[in-house]
Amino acid sequence: MLIPRNAAVEAKPLRKPGINHALSLAGSCIALLLGLLAGFSQSAPKTEGEAWIAPARAARKQNPIPADATSIAQGKELFVLGCLPCHGPSGKGDGPAAATLERNGVPIRPGNLSSAKLWEQTDGTLFWKLSEGRSPMPSFQETFSETQRWQIVNYVRTLVPKEENKNHVANSGGK
Ligand code: HEC
Repeated sequence: MLIPRNAAVEAKPLRKPGINHALSLAGSCIALLLGLLAGFSQSAPKTEGEAWIAPARAARKQNPIPADATSIAQGKELFVLGCLPCHGPSGKGDGPAAATLERNGVPIRPGNLSSAKLWEQTDGTLFWKLSEGRSPMPSFQETFSETQRWQIVNYVRTLVPKEENKNHVANSGGK
């Protein structure tokens, strides 16, 4: 009588370590997965919905090219070549390719460059954005020279209606 009972009692503690081990192993796996996921989401590229903000140093960069008729005319030519397909002829984001754009499978519209909000951004910020790009917008660092990129900035400034330019910070500190 006593022997089977003892055996049953002893059998439990024998099995327990195995179960505990399996459980703690599963726990470690979950912890590892969560760690990997956290690491991944931190290093993942910035996606839609996140504000696109230039580094402070880039934003403070002064525009060395005067916004005169010549540089604006040159900027317009480059804009027609490089930006119009997405941003549209007047920068409203209605270019012929605009409807086809997506990021990570989600449709995305090009920014509206004729919005008064653009004046809240410095020339340095605009220069940095078109130099760097942000998928699906390409980087123009290799496509256009530095001078050409500042000319484009000068032209883009003309897309915002004059009476809405109250927030003009073009070459000051700002964002
Ligand atoms: C392939 C399409 C495409 C082309 C070509 C393109 N863009 Fe863009 N652009 C976009 C998209 C899409 C966004 C929105 C990106 C975001 O919000 O992350 C954008 C955003 C911007 C912004 C930011 C607007 C804001 O509200 O901050 C600026 C400035 C800009 N583009 C300027 C230009 C200029 C100048 C050119 C040409 C040299 C150009 N883009 C060419 C697609 C394009």
